[in-house]
Amino acid sequence: MAKNIAVIGTGYVGLVSSVGLSDFGNYVTAVDVNPEIVEKLNRGIPTIYELGLEDYLRRNLESGRLEFTADIDRAIRNAEIVFLAVGTPQSENGEADLSQVEQAVGSVAKNLNGFKVVVCKSTVPVGTNRWVKGRLSELTGESAEGPDPAFAVVSNPEFLREGKAVQDFFHPDRLVLGYEAPKAREYMEDVYRALNLIHVPMVWCGLETAELIKYASNAFLATKITFINQMATLAEAAGADIHVIAHSMGMDGRISPKFLHPGPGFGGSCFPKDTRALVSTGDSYGVDMSLVREVISANEHMKGLVVNRLLKMAGGAGALKGKVAAVLGLAFKAETDDIRESPAITIVQRLLDEGAEVQVHDPEALDNFKKLFGDEIRYFEHEFDALKGADALLIATEWNEYRNLDLERAKAEMRGNLIMDARNVLEPEKARSFGFAYKGVGR
Ligand SMILES: NC(=O)c1ccc[n+]([C@@H]2O[C@H](COP(=O)([O-])OP(=O)(O)OC[C@H]3O[C@@H](n4cnc5c(N)ncnc54)[C@H](O)[C@@H]3O)[C@@H](O)[C@H]2O)c1
Repeated sequence: MAKNIAVIGTGYVGLVSSVGLSDFGNYVTAVDVNPEIVEKLNRGIPTIYELGLEDYLRRNLESGRLEFTADIDRAIRNAEIVFLAVGTPQSENGEADLSQVEQAVGSVAKNLNGFKVVVCKSTVPVGTNRWVKGRLSELTGESAEGPDPAFAVVSNPEFLREGKAVQDFFHPDRLVLGYEAPKAREYMEDVYRALNLIHVPMVWCGLETAELIKYASNAFLATKITFINQMATLAEAAGADIHVIAHSMGMDGRISPKFLHPGPGFGGSCFPKDTRALVSTGDSYGVDMSLVREVISANEHMKGLVVNRLLKMAGGAGALKGKVAAVLGLAFKAETDDIRESPAITIVQRLLDEGAEVQVHDPEALDNFKKLFGDEIRYFEHEFDALKGADALLIATEWNEYRNLDLERAKAEMRGNLIMDARNVLEPEKARSFGFAYKGVGR
């Protein structure tokens, strides 16, 4: 049976989940603390860029199964299930900052007017859901134990990829559901009935196991990226081609070809903070997560390498002083406007530190980047405007439109001929045939 759901937080995860859960036939009230976000979403205007999101948003608003509000008390009181999709950013010491989760749990406690399942979709360190359970008992005097609990807690970590979030929500590889109360499982089976019907695997497990599945998955993917980046550096030094290496590795069914694309280091709102939080969790249990620790530092090193390579091409330290450097791509990956921990941030800052004037383009992330760099750099809506008068070009995000860059026009717009392609989106030989001094990663 369709459920009444409140979703707390309407960022990448909360908004996509709200739209998806209402599309499954549930009645969803999504809450955000930011009234501007609420107002826009109720008018059917997405506040983030995700392919296909606008259509689903409008369709479900029109069906009457979806609404947005800033009134968290009303949303929780009317809900049988409360999804927490608030942010869990990194705190200063590397741990996950759980203050948004704590605040949301306080609101649930205040409005616990009957049985509710509290589902944590936010990425939270192992032990957090058990803490939520204890905290709710403490605040309400109610129990989550026994055959007729007053509430229940479910850990349902989210695995969607930004840029493919809508597609991933409707066709996930699996759902992970950590639970204890049988009633909570019944409720979750109702919520996700549409996915069960298309045989999406559902992993039912304990709360702690569900929490660690999320961190283990992200840390493993971050490790895979870092591994191929280091291999790329070695391949380049040894005169080998990382693309052929990665492709051949991927043919091995045990390895899989995914996440074997060399680049300027991983960024984004998840891998950097989740790897650091995992190291910190390890520390609190007396377990040294030494491999993950090494991945974090190797990745930081990688971001700087890209600019070092460009400097070397330009003639060494100081060679970019007073020169114009164009950066194409600011988002941490293609198909998103998210710049959180994007390698482009480190790259642009390094170029500025080197005394270069920086001109940038990105199809979706310009506004977010402006909030960070203000008038320190120049922003352009069209890539060829960003290339005008540039001595060097650095490609930092693998947007499709850069793959097909008109190199003849690029050459005509630019003053110099240096290209550092940190995503290997261009054909090296083709770029060189237009007179560019071209360098990719690992080949
Ligand atoms: N972004 C991803 O690709 C992704 C993927 C999987 C998991 N996650 C995890 O999901 C969680 C959310 O990530 P995100 O990227 O959507 O975050 P986000 O920062 O984009 O969104 C969080 C939203 O919650 C709102 N909020 C905070 N406190 C609130 C409160 N008390 N009441 C109502 N609204 C509140 C904020 O205003 C914001 O809009 C994080 O734990 C993240 O690690 C993210």
